[in-house]
Amino acid sequence: MARRSSPAAISFLVFSMLTIASAKVFFEERFNDGWESRWIKSDWKKDGNMAGEWNYTSGKWNGDPNDKGIQTSEDYRFYAISAEFPEFSNKDKTLVFQFSVKHEQKLDCGGGYMKLLSGAVDQKKFGGHTPYSIMFGPDICGHSTKKVHAILNYNGVNNLLKKDIPCETDQLTHVYTFILHPDATYSILIDNVEKESGSLYSDWDLLPQKKIKDPEAKKPEDWDEKEYIPDPEDRKPEGYDDIPKEIPDADATKPEDWDEEEDGEWTAPTIPNPEYKGPWKPKKIKNPNYQGKWKAPMIDNPEFKDDPDLYVYPNLKYVGVELWQVKSGTLFDNVLVCDDVEYAKKLAEETWSKNKDAEKAAFDEAEKKREEEEAKKDPADSDVEDEDTDEGADSDADVDLDGTSETDKDGSDAEVKESGTSKTKEEAVKDEL
Ligand SMILES: *[C@@H]1O[C@H](CO)[C@@H](O)[C@H](O)[C@H]1NC(C)=O
Repeated sequence: MARRSSPAAISFLVFSMLTIASAKVFFEERFNDGWESRWIKSDWKKDGNMAGEWNYTSGKWNGDPNDKGIQTSEDYRFYAISAEFPEFSNKDKTLVFQFSVKHEQKLDCGGGYMKLLSGAVDQKKFGGHTPYSIMFGPDICGHSTKKVHAILNYNGVNNLLKKDIPCETDQLTHVYTFILHPDATYSILIDNVEKESGSLYSDWDLLPQKKIKDPEAKKPEDWDEKEYIPDPEDRKPEGYDDIPKEIPDADATKPEDWDEEEDGEWTAPTIPNPEYKGPWKPKKIKNPNYQGKWKAPMIDNPEFKDDPDLYVYPNLKYVGVELWQVKSGTLFDNVLVCDDVEYAKKLAEETWSKNKDAEKAAFDEAEKKREEEEAKKDPADSDVEDEDTDEGADSDADVDLDGTSETDKDGSDAEVKESGTSKTKEEAVKDEL
C-alpha cells in the first residue's frame, strides 16, 4: 500500500515544486533602499510647477513603520513616475499585475491606479498622453465615481471594462490584483478576494460581437404576437343592450313651486344607471396560437474576426503611476508584475495581511487624536464640521478637474482634463470604439 501511494505523493511534491520554481517575477518593488535608482520621475508638468513631489514614507498610520512606499505629497498636482523591467510577452502565460494603495487623505477626487506600458517609453516624458497597455486600479471622484478601472489597450484604442466594480473608499491600505489568463479570461481581486471575473470577449468591447441579430430577418406577416384574444365562445347576454345608460332619479320630487303652465311638464332628472356596464365585450382568453414576441435570429457577425492573441501584450516593459490629484496622500507600495497567481497571493499575505490589523489600530488611534485636537481647538464644535463641508463643496467643483484617467484614454492633452466630467469622457471613449 505504502509503496503504491508514494509515487503519487512524490509526483505531487515535484509538481508543487515545479509550479513554485516556474513562477516568473518580471518586476517586484517593495520600495526598500535603492528604489530611487529603479524609478524615474518624469519632467511632465514641471513647467508651471504642476508636478507633485513624492514622499518616501510608510504614512501617518501603518502596520510597520519600516515598510515604506511612495506617497503623493502636494495638492492640485500631476504625478508621473515609472520603472523599467526586462521586456517580456505574456503570450501563453498568466499575467498578474498587483499593487497596494492607501488613500490617507480621505480621497474625494483622484485616481489610485497604475499602468503597464509597452515598447519604448521616454520615462522623462512619461505623462497623461503616453500610450499604455493596461491601466488598473481604483478611481474616486465625488459620489458618482468609486470604481476599479481596468482599461485595456487593443490596437491603439483604450477600452474600458464594461462591468462596474466598486473600489475601497476608506483610508487604509488595499491590494488590487489584475489577472489575465492565456484563455482570455481575467479576474480582479481586492485584498486577495475575487471581485469580478469573466472573459475579454464579453467584458470589454475589444472585438466586434461574435453574434449579431440578423439584419435581414423580418417578422413573418402571420407571426402571432397577441398574448390574449377575445373569447370566441363568449356570447352577449340576452337583453344586454336594453339596459339604459341613465335612468330617472327615483328620489327626485317635483319642486313645490313647479308651474306646469310656465315650466312645462316636470320630468325627474336622470342619473347614471348602476346596472349599465358599457358596450358588451367578450372576455379575453390566452391566445392558443401565441408565438411570443418576435426576435431576429442571431447569426455569426461577418465583422467578427477572432484574435487568438487577444490577451497578448508582446512587449511589456514599464510600470508607471500617472495621476492628477486634488488632494494628495495616496501611497503606493508592493508593486508586482509576474506570471503566478499564487506568488502574488503570497506577497499580499506577507505584506498587507500581516500588517492590516496593526494599521487599522494605528488609524483608529490617529483618528481619536485628531478628533480630540479638533474638539480642543473649538470646544463649541460644529465649526469643524462646517469647515469639512466647505472643503467638500470645493472639491465638488473639482469633479470636473478630475477626468484625469479618462482623458488619457482618448489620448487627449492633459489640459483637457480640466473640462468635462469623467462620465462624458468615458462615453467619448466608448463612442470611439
Ligand atoms: C512625508 O510623510 C510623513 C509621514 O506621513 C510626514 O510626517 C511628512 O511630513 C511627509 N513629508 C512631506 C514632505 O510631505
